[in-house]
Amino acid sequence: MKRNYGNDNKHALTAKLDAQKIAWAPMMFQAARALRDFGILKLLLENKNGFTSSEVAEKIGISRYGATVLLEAGLSLELVYLEDDVFKLTKTGFFLQSDPLTKANMDFTQDVNYEAFMYLQESIKNSKPEGLHRVFGDRWATVYEALAEMPDQFRKSWFGFDHYYSDNAFPDLLEIVFKKSPKKILDVGGNTGKWSLQCVAHNPEVEMTILDHPGQLKEAFENAEKLGFKDRVKGHAMDLLKHEIPFPKGFDIVWMSQFLDCFGEEDILGLILRAKDALNENGKLYILETYWDDQKYEASTYSLHATSLYFTCVANGNSRMYHSDDMRELLDKAGMQVVETYHNVGISHTLMICEPKFRKIK
Ligand SMILES: C[S@@+](CC[C@H](N)C(=O)[O-])C[C@H]1O[C@@H](n2cnc3c(N)ncnc32)[C@H](O)[C@@H]1O
Repeated sequence: MKRNYGNDNKHALTAKLDAQKIAWAPMMFQAARALRDFGILKLLLENKNGFTSSEVAEKIGISRYGATVLLEAGLSLELVYLEDDVFKLTKTGFFLQSDPLTKANMDFTQDVNYEAFMYLQESIKNSKPEGLHRVFGDRWATVYEALAEMPDQFRKSWFGFDHYYSDNAFPDLLEIVFKKSPKKILDVGGNTGKWSLQCVAHNPEVEMTILDHPGQLKEAFENAEKLGFKDRVKGHAMDLLKHEIPFPKGFDIVWMSQFLDCFGEEDILGLILRAKDALNENGKLYILETYWDDQKYEASTYSLHATSLYFTCVANGNSRMYHSDDMRELLDKAGMQVVETYHNVGISHTLMICEPKFRKIK
């Protein structure tokens, strides 16, 4: 099906202003971050009557000049407004200060992506995450192998971003997944075990097997041991891009959460085929993804289009946040079909439950 999205209905003056927002975006981003990190937005949030720039400077402990340039940039950023010489917080300022989605996205932009994005064009030309290679080192092909060795601030913001999106979906998902009382679940790309640990805590019988890189798996095992679930959280360290290595077999559910978006289309096909082989007779593949076409809010679609660029420049150079039809087409090629779909799980996820197309009916 041909796709349609967006339009060209904007007034020329608005379009020109929006073009300036793009032209100055990196500098204005840093101004917004300074307003947040110096505590200026918090100060204005806690004092609804606002302050003059001199008062802000004094309370925050920066020069009047510093407070003035930041607050005036804040006017154009629409984070603050000026009323009788007094700066007050806008709703956008409130979100920048207090909204966890905005915090996860902003910290991820700063600590994982900001410097790396100087190399976006090279990443596209070379189909490699040149941002990762030039800023953090080139001994890894992808960010996933590098994660365990990345600087603390990088790891904190990377995990903050990843966990923010998945943690919000967990409570709804446990209900859906355990409706059918699965006994064996394969958690492909299970990371540090967050989902697997939720499952074993939720259900006393289920046994989880995680597949991931050794660094992530080591942390997952440590977490399982700490929480007393060592016996029911197993795993294999492997490079999942080696398509000649099959997954272990005999699972009621193969679980892939925020995982397939880490790969290009050919690799996704290979991973789905191996997942299909890992299912037992009645097993199902559960794919949890954030599809940019299946969002309730524009803020989510915007975030997902930006996240795709992180994949290009930092993660691996060839994956992205997909359109849901892209995934359906790949499933179809792998001989799988979607039998149930849950929309708007957590903040912006879609869960597709899939099974082989030609499963024998007993
Ligand atoms: C975005 S995280 C998702 C983690 C988790 N499933 C969730 O929903 O939060 C993707 C996971 O896939 C793993 N991964 C990506 N490429 C991999 C590869 N080639 N081999 C092994 N693991 C890989 C990463 O290490 C990471 O833990």
